[in-house]
Amino acid sequence: MERQVIEKTYRRYAKIYDTCFGRLFEPGRRMAIDKLDCQPGQRILEVGVGTGLSLPSYPDSVQVVGIDISQDMLNGAQARLRREGADKQTLLARMDAEQLGFADNSFDKVVAMYVASVVPSPARLVAEMRRVCRPGGELFIVNHFRNTHPFIGRVERLLAPLSGMVGFHPDFCLEKFSRDTGLEIDEQVPVNAFGYWTLLRVSNRKPFLEPDLAQPSLAS
Ligand SMILES: C[S@@+](CC[C@H](N)C(=O)[O-])C[C@H]1O[C@@H](n2cnc3c(N)ncnc32)[C@H](O)[C@@H]1O
Repeated sequence: MERQVIEKTYRRYAKIYDTCFGRLFEPGRRMAIDKLDCQPGQRILEVGVGTGLSLPSYPDSVQVVGIDISQDMLNGAQARLRREGADKQTLLARMDAEQLGFADNSFDKVVAMYVASVVPSPARLVAEMRRVCRPGGELFIVNHFRNTHPFIGRVERLLAPLSGMVGFHPDFCLEKFSRDTGLEIDEQVPVNAFGYWTLLRVSNRKPFLEPDLAQPSLAS
């Protein structure tokens, strides 16, 4: 999806996002923050923070920076912080996850929840996550990957042309994602009872050979 399509889609979603996806995506957010194993003083970057549904779950002892490309989604996150996060050291900024405005090695951990199948180039997203994460830090990615069940997989392929409308690529393929990003996955855990979403944990080994970023394709 192109940047303008993403912004338009999430402008539409912003007001209803928490009602539609708050509880549905909650197991993945909770598991990711659990796995992050936040230690006092650590700096955490959350890319595609959306309306900030995860923010109340971070401990107060870490500094969280949340970025998103959609100002409408960020407005929701800002409102949530005003309501619920007065004690937290949280910064929010409008930024493209494929072009992060942070120096190399700025964060201990970088997390992307339900974002990898939304951005135009997952390879660029991951390359940026790796760049801003310190060597030996960790990346966490929660996403739906194409279902291996023949019927569900077929439905997802049929829905693929509607990605601009639904706001993500329903037939996002894990094998292709790992290949394109060059990620060496350390842990892969199904997130809910049906394993429809998956959490990936990756140690940020550097130096890192950048994948061929000339190929922005997402599915298959
Ligand atoms: C499905 S929502 C997930 C929101 C949140 N992480 C959650 O757990 O509910 C995807 C989010 O990614 C954001 N996004 C999409 N492309 C982006 C990009 N290139 N840079 C930053 N954020 C992006 C969207 O604006 C949206 O807020």
